[in-house]
Amino acid sequence: MHIAVYPGSFDPTTNGHLDIIKRAAKLCDKLIVAVLENPAKKPLFTVEERVTHLKEILKDYENVEVQSFSGLLVDFAKSVGSNIVVRGLRGVTDFSYEFQMALTNRSLDNEIETLFISADTQYLFFSSSQVKEIALFGGNIDNMVPQIIKEEINKKLKEKSY
Ligand code: COA
Repeated sequence: MHIAVYPGSFDPTTNGHLDIIKRAAKLCDKLIVAVLENPAKKPLFTVEERVTHLKEILKDYENVEVQSFSGLLVDFAKSVGSNIVVRGLRGVTDFSYEFQMALTNRSLDNEIETLFISADTQYLFFSSSQVKEIALFGGNIDNMVPQIIKEEINKKLKEKSY
């Protein structure tokens, strides 16, 4: 059974992430979307909230599971019986970072393979931070995120009274 892990911060999940998830799910028996508690980033949503959003968005995808993790990705992958890491590539800027990460992960565990999926052209230009910034300044994020994420961002921005 081929189990793959698609890790990320998902703060929040964008349509770009969903595109990669849907395509990766077709390539394996089970895809685990792994939400990282990333101490390097100051998130808008808690890990629990990000997991809840993803579970709701992906509820109809039978071979996709959502879990959170902390610590090393290679350890998480091993703990769920996977040696395949999926990452999306939006262009050459992503490539140098992703290539370095893939090599680092292999140096930590030489059984790990990274599978790169090229992002669809319509999702090449934005990131989670940009989505949050556009929402903060009242811009339209309809084509960038699923409806539930749009609602949750607006709720969060009101709560934090930005
Ligand atoms: N479409 C749109 N945006 C995309 C995207 C896509 N297909 N793929 C990535 N992005 C964006 C994200 O929105 C995110 O934007 P942001 O920086 O504005 O928040 C950015 O690209 C990169 O984020 P993400 O894919 O979530 O990765 P990350 O850099 O936050 O985390 C991990 C990468 C989780 C894989 C990595 O940090 C990790 O493995 N950490 C665990 C610790 C570890 O094992 N370290 C050693 C290995 S390096």
